[in-house]
Order: sequence, then C-alpha cells, then structure tokens
Amino acid sequence: MRDDSKTGKLYLIGAGPGDPELLTLKAVRVLGQCDVVLYDRLVNKAILQHAKPSAELIYVGKHPGEQERAQNEIFELIRRHAFRGQTVARLKGGDPLVFGRGAEEWFLALRDHIEVEVIPGVTSAIAVPGLAGIPLTYRGVSQSFVIITGHCHEGRSDEWRRYVEVDTLVVLMGVRNREFIARSLIAAGRRPEEPVAFVMRGTMAGEQVAESTLEDVAAGRTDIQPPAVFVIGEVVRLRSKFRESQRRRGPAL
Ligand SMILES: C[S@@+](CC[C@H](N)C(=O)[O-])C[C@H]1O[C@@H](n2cnc3c(N)ncnc32)[C@H](O)[C@@H]1O
Repeated sequence: MRDDSKTGKLYLIGAGPGDPELLTLKAVRVLGQCDVVLYDRLVNKAILQHAKPSAELIYVGKHPGEQERAQNEIFELIRRHAFRGQTVARLKGGDPLVFGRGAEEWFLALRDHIEVEVIPGVTSAIAVPGLAGIPLTYRGVSQSFVIITGHCHEGRSDEWRRYVEVDTLVVLMGVRNREFIARSLIAAGRRPEEPVAFVMRGTMAGEQVAESTLEDVAAGRTDIQPPAVFVIGEVVRLRSKFRESQRRRGPAL
C-alpha cells in the first residue's frame, strides 16, 4: 500500500498568453517552491526564472501527431515525481483548464491520490484579442462570446448553426482549419462580409494582427502563422477605432 501522506503535490499552473508579466502572484510564489517544472511549448521561457535554482525543468511540448503518446508520457512524469514526494508544477500556456488538457491531468492525478491545486492563468482567448484592441464584448455591439477549438470535426454541417447567433466567436488552434471553419460558418448563416482578425503571437515580441472577412478566409486569401487567436464578429472593427484615437493621443496599439 502506498503511503499517500508521502506523495508530492501537483500544481496545474496557468502561464498566461506570453508576456511573462501576465503571470499571477500565486503562480510566481508556487513556482519558487516546486521541485520539478513540466512546461509546454507556448510557455514563455522567461517565466522559468521564477523556478527555484535547484528545480528540474522539463520541456514537454507536444508536436502535431504525437499528442496522445506525449500526453501519456507527461502523466507518467507527473506520477514518477509525485510518488518520490516531490512538488510538481505543470506549467501550461494561458489558463490550464482552457483547451489545455489540464482537467484530464487533474482527474488522473486524483485517481492516483496525488493532491492537486489549480492556479488559473490569463487565457489567450480573451487577453490576446483584448490587448490587440479587440474587446470580446462591447455595449451595443457584442453581448456574448463563445470560445471554440479549431481542431474540428469535419462532421455534420448543422453543428455550426449553434454559432450563428453568437455575437463574437473566438477560435483557438484554428489556423490550419481556418478555410474550413470560415466556409462552415458562412454555410450555417453567418455573413460572408463579417469582419475577422487573427492575432498572431499575441502579447509577445513579433505580435501581428491580420484583419480580413469571413469570405476572404474561406477563399484562402489569408496568410497566417500560428499561434494565433482567430476572432469573428463586429468587435473586430473596434480595433481601427482604438488605433485611430491612440494615434491622435499617443503610441499606437
Ligand atoms: C492548446 S490551446 C491552449 C490555450 C491556453 N490554455 C489558453 O488559455 O490560452 C493553444 C492555442 O491558444 C492560442 N494561443 C495561445 N497563446 C497565444 C498567443 N500568445 N498568441 C496567439 N494565440 C495564442 C492559439 O490559438 C493556440 O493554438
């Protein structure tokens, strides 16, 4: 029988969207106490400076096509270190429970009687468009938003109908499938001329924003590099208004 009192603890920590200053105070404090840090591909390496000097830093970034194998290996690492009595930080981009498989790791850890604590992070889905001048809600323009994954289901076309009435749609992991997504949304009833934006490498050096329309994306007329947050809706037009008023007052967005 394993003695649970000797098992280490797992912290599922959100690293925020990229800018290392968008980390919570709690994340900084806990990182400084962990024995092992398992970090993902989209985690800014500058954040690792908050780990204690003796901590073991392990890169566990996944590449397309090896998701399942990598996920199993990551969980084995968590188990191995926790069973040695070590405190493990699982550092994930954005918020660990937003398309980050954090909840799966949480369940698996609980199954193995490993104590878990979640430290939320600033999700790219909201902060990346917002900081680029695209608030997801705005009085009189957008009263609702939905965040979806772009790793989609080429499945039933009627599935897209549920997104027609939503004011603002935010697609994560949607770069590769962007043409299919745009075509599906138009077929479901969204307006072809609806404005869209891709915010690439948001909050990081080299951030770029590409504005377009759903029909241009559907026609393959956009050149986009991941990582990007794909935003669809009238709020996209606010960006040029912000830029215009900032141009008159000070530094541009
Ligand atoms: C696996 S999901 C993880 C999301 C993360 N848990 C969060 O809350 O932000 C990765 C996707 O998030 C988006 N993303 C994350 N960081 C980003 C950034 N700095 N700029 C643009 N998109 C980003 C991209 O759509 C990327 O494909």
